[in-house]
Amino acid sequence: MSIKLVFGTQWGDEGKGKVVDYYAEKADIVVRYQGGNNAGHTIKIGDEVFKFHLLPSGVVRKGKTAVIGNGVVVDPKVLISEIEAIRSRGIEPHLVISDRAHVIMPYHKMLDGAEERFRGKKKVGTTGRGIGPCYSDKIARLGIRMGDLVDEETLRERLEFIIPLKNGIFEAYGMEERLSVDEVFEEYSQYGKYLKDMVRDTVAMLHGSMDREILLEGAQGAMLDVDFGTYPYTTSSHTIGGGASAGSGIPPNAIDEIIGVVKAYTTRVGMGPFPTEQDNKIGEHLGRKGHEFGTTTGRSRRCGWLDLVVVKHALRISGANGIVITKIDVLEGLEKVKVARAYEIDGKRVDRFPASMKDIAKIKPIYRDFEGWTVENGEWERAKKEGISALPKTLKEYLAFIEKETGVKIRMVSYGPAREETVEI
Ligand code: GDP
Ligand code: IMO
Ligand code: MG
Repeated sequence: MSIKLVFGTQWGDEGKGKVVDYYAEKADIVVRYQGGNNAGHTIKIGDEVFKFHLLPSGVVRKGKTAVIGNGVVVDPKVLISEIEAIRSRGIEPHLVISDRAHVIMPYHKMLDGAEERFRGKKKVGTTGRGIGPCYSDKIARLGIRMGDLVDEETLRERLEFIIPLKNGIFEAYGMEERLSVDEVFEEYSQYGKYLKDMVRDTVAMLHGSMDREILLEGAQGAMLDVDFGTYPYTTSSHTIGGGASAGSGIPPNAIDEIIGVVKAYTTRVGMGPFPTEQDNKIGEHLGRKGHEFGTTTGRSRRCGWLDLVVVKHALRISGANGIVITKIDVLEGLEKVKVARAYEIDGKRVDRFPASMKDIAKIKPIYRDFEGWTVENGEWERAKKEGISALPKTLKEYLAFIEKETGVKIRMVSYGPAREETVEI
């Protein structure tokens, strides 16, 4: 049937949760394929708000299978509390977890903090959830996978090998804490027992389901990609479209639709460069109107204008063939709306996002200005029936400009957090 991929094109929090929930109506299976509980995906259904960190956003709809793919890093304690929380709201998730997904262990969270302290002024501003250290261990072949967690013998064997090494690293960081194999085993083998029946070979399961509707749910955004983002101010996984294949085992040529979620302006949580940031009244306005506070850490998000150099970079690398614009309502009522269409670096026009921090620091965005707009009562409802021709002229110009500059078609526009506040084009 068809496989659709939804990913973030900026620095995360583009509204992927809402978009995935919308598309999940037609899906049988929803798969998270990278990241961990650094993510925070919000879904609003009527008066109810759900915030997911590890559970795929499809779980709120009945009869869907939710998959945590091999590319995800799983904090079992957080996952269990999310499962319990959703059960207490009357939803029984049908969840399958990859036996190849790596486990976030207590030492990963401790080292996340230690590494940030070590970086001092150059800290990344991580979510502190142990994401980076867990992915580092995966690559260094020192990880514990979900399949190991649910097998007591393997878990103990891995811990006996890894914990002394981690205690040595704590010492090198000047930390006083030490972990004991027995205590960690005691706690984590309990998590393993709870999750055992959900842990499976999801690659085989997905390959056996290729005739179903599958939705792949990205976390973070392309500018947080460990290779293509603003390194070292990134997360530790592949957040671009390609991450979906590596993180789920679904081959790239089986993915039919690749949808980039583009927030109508830009936000960033944590440290690192942000060329179109508006550290002024405009930024405050966007933050207030868009409720831009982190879903995971509650931190205020930095806000700025839409940056099409960033978006084009993300769409191109990911092979996107569709865009969803979100939070367009937040721009309403501004006198002027700006969009960066290129950069100037050392007096030269640049159309590509540079790799070097030195070049990035010199970026001067080249903006295109738009007159502001307001959408009258009922205009969005009309647009749902008659198409976007019913919308104000400058808003249409804004959307047309995004399509023209990126060369990618806008499939949907979201004008509020709720499911129904969505216009398909
Ligand atoms: P994600 O991490 O990409 O899933 O995004 P988050 O859930 O962290 O942040 C997006 C926030 O914007 C959430 O609070 C959503 O409920 C909200 N949201 C999503 N789409 C829209 C929209 O079109 N308009 C407004 N005003 N809010 C939206
Ligand atoms: P969703 O899926 C926004 C940011 C952190 C930090 C950097 C590295 O909700 O869009 P990490 O803990 O991953 O090592 O932190 O990445 N970050 C996010 N920012 N949305 C997210 O997820 C994020 N996940 C990580 O703030 O700057
Ligand atoms: Mg989020």
